[in-house]
Amino acid sequence: MSFDLEAIRSQYPALALTDSGTRRIYFDNPAGTQVPVCVAAAIADCLMTKNANLGGYFASSSDADRIVQSAREAMADFLNAPSSDEIIFGQNMTTMTLHLSRSIGRLLRPGDEIILSQMDHDANVWPWVLLARDLELEIRWLPFNKESFEFDLELLDDLLTERTRLLCVGGSSNLTGTLNDVKAICAKAQAAGVLSFIDGVQSAPHIATDVQDLGCDFFVCSSYKFFGPHQGILWGRREVLEQLEPYKVRPAPAELPWCFETGTQSHEGMAGVAATVDYFALIGQTMATEQLKSWSQFSGQRQQVHAAMDLLFDYEKTLTSRLIDGLTGIEGISVQGIATQDAMDRRVPTVSFTHDTVGPAIIAEALAKRNIFVWSGHNYAVEVAKTLGIDKTGGVVRVGPVHYNSIAEIDELLEVLPALLSN
Ligand SMILES: Cc1ncc(COP(=O)(O)O)c(C=O)c1O
Repeated sequence: MSFDLEAIRSQYPALALTDSGTRRIYFDNPAGTQVPVCVAAAIADCLMTKNANLGGYFASSSDADRIVQSAREAMADFLNAPSSDEIIFGQNMTTMTLHLSRSIGRLLRPGDEIILSQMDHDANVWPWVLLARDLELEIRWLPFNKESFEFDLELLDDLLTERTRLLCVGGSSNLTGTLNDVKAICAKAQAAGVLSFIDGVQSAPHIATDVQDLGCDFFVCSSYKFFGPHQGILWGRREVLEQLEPYKVRPAPAELPWCFETGTQSHEGMAGVAATVDYFALIGQTMATEQLKSWSQFSGQRQQVHAAMDLLFDYEKTLTSRLIDGLTGIEGISVQGIATQDAMDRRVPTVSFTHDTVGPAIIAEALAKRNIFVWSGHNYAVEVAKTLGIDKTGGVVRVGPVHYNSIAEIDELLEVLPALLSN
């Protein structure tokens, strides 16, 4: 079997909901995806039958221990981490980055330099700006090209100096949708002896992630962006994590990964994360027979999950292509991201646009009246909006399809937009 949209959609109760008889079209996915039944069931099961704190002598506590371990192993598979001990859970990406930045800061000295990107979400910008203020670090900015919406990596060479200690960059922009060449970026960082902190929140839902191949030191993502519960997950390279001083309370374990997890975690969230990875694995097993061959260096769930991501991205590219083709044909619309049809590999399906005369919030509200869900604004991509000169004009309309969306849904959006823009 190859990609089967109906089999996928049938797993999401939210996709069948209607309001006053009108179906819902979810294009708000970059802000959070819907959840399949298996994920919701795992969360409910944890709360109803395995609800206890960890490390006790009794049955429900042992069950909770197993859930936590299975979530770590699942995420190690999803990210191709060498060990589940390097998988750290937390509330969300922002909280985890703010928290870990304190520990990373212990390695830094006044006058040290850090490189931040102008393509990143503020969650991979401001925690580091605050750290730089506290520690008197120098910030050097990696810009992106306003025409190509991509980094010029030669500029990175100029930014790396012998004082550079840390480079923070995203896998994909939540505004432009650009997929960055993280592997090339990390190779440059590694060659210069610089730590790399990758915000994978918008790349992980769309492309297969292999932290070992990327060569990064930290990779952080959020499962609510990839069909799971509200949960942050951070992978750190063991040798680097072991150099860090964890910000923790005294009785909390001193060992990895526990020492970086503050307080009691959401075990139900972790149960949901494990089920989310199972969801991908089942897609890999049942629909991605061809793609499995490209991941023959892995086995079992790890292989299935990576194959599934390839299959889903291939399908998503058909949605992106149709969406961009339609949007560029509508008068007054400018796509704020890569729009050439032969470059769909270099972007995720998150497509943002502006219109010459109608503001983004007005468009988003008008679409909401037709039960088409999109976001407007800068979506926390503050530096991106500034670079594109749209920070004072309401940002963009962001349309973010994922693998459970259909071409028919894209077409419906494209059909209603022109009339809506001319009113
Ligand atoms: C690229 C990117 N990074 C970070 C975040 C923040 O994620 P979280 O809500 O898990 O803190 C988001 C949220 O939209 C994002 O899109």
